[in-house]
Amino acid sequence: MIRAMLHFPQGFLWGSATSSHQVEGGNSANDWWAWEHEPDRILHGHQSGEACQWWAGRWEEDLDRAVDGHQNAHRLSIEWSRIEPHPALWDEEAIDAYRTILQGMRSRGLTPMVTLHHFTNPLWLAEQGGWANPKVIGWFERFTRKVVGALQDLVELWITINEPNVYIYSAYVEGVFPPGERDLRLAWKVARNMVRAHAAACGAIHELSAAARVGVAHHFRDFSPLRPGNPLDHGLAAFRHSTFNELFPRALREGRLRFLHWREQVPEARGTQDFFGLNYYTRERVGLDPWRPGDILRPGDYPEQADVSPTGFIANEPEGFWEALRWAHRQDLPIYITENGVEDPSDQIRSRYLVCHLRELWKAANYNWRIWGYFHWSLVDNFEWERGWTQRFGLWGLERETQRRVKRPAADLYAEICQANGLSSESVSRYAPEILEALFPPGPPTILE
Ligand code: GAL
Repeated sequence: MIRAMLHFPQGFLWGSATSSHQVEGGNSANDWWAWEHEPDRILHGHQSGEACQWWAGRWEEDLDRAVDGHQNAHRLSIEWSRIEPHPALWDEEAIDAYRTILQGMRSRGLTPMVTLHHFTNPLWLAEQGGWANPKVIGWFERFTRKVVGALQDLVELWITINEPNVYIYSAYVEGVFPPGERDLRLAWKVARNMVRAHAAACGAIHELSAAARVGVAHHFRDFSPLRPGNPLDHGLAAFRHSTFNELFPRALREGRLRFLHWREQVPEARGTQDFFGLNYYTRERVGLDPWRPGDILRPGDYPEQADVSPTGFIANEPEGFWEALRWAHRQDLPIYITENGVEDPSDQIRSRYLVCHLRELWKAANYNWRIWGYFHWSLVDNFEWERGWTQRFGLWGLERETQRRVKRPAADLYAEICQANGLSSESVSRYAPEILEALFPPGPPTILE
């Protein structure tokens, strides 16, 4: 019997998210493919290889799974290196293949959300300096025009760039994504070019499609002070928030780009989002050791008692999601959660993580904030960048040798949520009974606490 139900607004989008390189397989014309073939770049020497064989046609069966699970939307990305394998040489067959996938989504009742850049670059672009080369602004606009011109009758929701802050940090600060740089000056150049490329792409999309709505998938990481009350740690948390979370949104909100001591006006970028895409995974603690100032950009950590995922990559910190939502709400745009999820091959934490986060989202929606959809990362296990296949984010597991998909319990839980357009106490009692009381406290109602 259902005793309580946390309802979501009518017309809410419930989906999952994927990206081209992570699921398609055989993306041999991009920089990630080359990177994976270099020694010691990817954990255990893993490679994307055939990935989930979406390009070979398995997108169909996986999208059937999404539909069987009552999802009504899906976020995917278009692989630039397939569409434009050489500068200004277009592969029309690749465009047609994406048309077929998008038609397949629509005929299944899945609203598409399409990302134009999700971490990978055509090799020819990488060879010419990648995102550090200002010519990328025009090249990205040209690619955007080609794609949107060909697909705009099938897509209304466009994401120009996925997680520019993660891309810049991983590729130009930490050096774990290609091109493997650790150079803050280059990071700054890339940030400038990405903001401008987004602005140019946004203009192009609106020019080509009256119905289009454009956003960026912003990654928000909640930084909390390691030692509460310690001014150094508070200062560092504020600094990390400002350089990492705010870098892009500030530029698109105010037309001003700021990174460390660099400053620049980018007026053409102001107001170039119709919605705010929010990717949230976790919150970390940061502390400043005055004797090691060079560590200010070093990743933080989780408390010892944190509810962490099997490889320790993600802590289940729904309060951090609440902070993310409060921050996103202040951007004054409709919000889509464009990614949220956890790596967990044996589904120990996923159901708990999912319902804890959806309760925060429900609160936000019930404050009447404009929360319009949620895309879970991910539909099926896929290639997790420098972590290779060591992390499993799928509602469905993937046996790589056989390509067999294995349904995880959380897939059924998510299906119940999508079908009901809400989260019931009954679902929580079956899939994550250990937190039933925390999510549905007994006794007199405590509204929206
Ligand atoms: C995000 C990224 C996704 C996926 C996810 C889980 O940063 O956009 O592609 O890898 O993290 O690690």
